[in-house]
Amino acid sequence: MSKNVIFCFSGTGNCLDIAKNIAKELGDTDIISMRSKPAVIDVRDAERVGFVFPCYAGGLPGHVEEFVKRITVGETAYKFGVVSCAGYPGIGLGVIDRIMSLHYAAVISHQSACIWLMPHTLMIPPMDADKAQNRSEQLAAKIGKDVKNKLRSDRKPGGINPINSAESAAWKLLCAQKASQLRVTEDCIGCGQCEKLCPAGNIHMIDGRPVFGVANCVGCLGCLQFCPQQAIHMGGATRTRERYHNPNITPAELMKPIIHID
Ligand SMILES: Cc1cc2nc3c(=O)[nH]c(=O)nc-3n(C[C@H](O)[C@H](O)[C@H](O)COP(=O)(O)O)c2cc1C
Repeated sequence: MSKNVIFCFSGTGNCLDIAKNIAKELGDTDIISMRSKPAVIDVRDAERVGFVFPCYAGGLPGHVEEFVKRITVGETAYKFGVVSCAGYPGIGLGVIDRIMSLHYAAVISHQSACIWLMPHTLMIPPMDADKAQNRSEQLAAKIGKDVKNKLRSDRKPGGINPINSAESAAWKLLCAQKASQLRVTEDCIGCGQCEKLCPAGNIHMIDGRPVFGVANCVGCLGCLQFCPQQAIHMGGATRTRERYHNPNITPAELMKPIIHID
């Protein structure tokens, strides 16, 4: 077990990139994926334990909350959380704080991955992908230094209010509805990357074409955003919108259960 551990959920790479940049400051860090059941949940020997994840509909993505509840952390471990969002961080940090009692919490706004709702540049403050990436790298480096020095946040993350709780609960239902709008065009070359990338195992290649299930979709949009042919659409809005995924992260990296950074 490495000295530092970061549990990370990332759909389009922003959070994995942030986790890697924090890890570079810390050295000797395992980044453990929470896209599906984490490969390791007993991290009692780690000195620092972090959680890096995006805000989805005001809450936590996928099964992050239930995974975090199962993680065992040492009594003296320093614990931190970082949420990435387009502009509204929601209650995710508060939910994790309630489970883990975080010493430090931070927010990084980045390009919006929610392409069916808005163009990726509509983050707060609005900016293009290069500027947002630059800003994210600088903030992650600063957070990495803070975490290395075991800095403690002055304030606890925002409370868990009923509106956000209802919003994130409704999100699970909306996901199935949105997943039913996933379609593939004739530009599909049958590469199967979407099937491999889906954290929920919701996509199956049949006769060389992806078939989208609806039941387990977590709405990360990795299938659509990373499609090399831009052949996947979700409803009408995505036909005209530019795709976005983090420029430093590949699908292969996203799929790794653990990434070690020296
Ligand atoms: C399904 C979905 C829901 C989202 N909901 C919110 C939200 O409520 N507030 C917000 O500011 N950003 C929201 N976003 C934007 C993401 O939090 C943001 O793009 C984040 O950087 C994505 O991280 P990732 O690339 O690691 O997946 C949402 C994105 C997706 C895909």
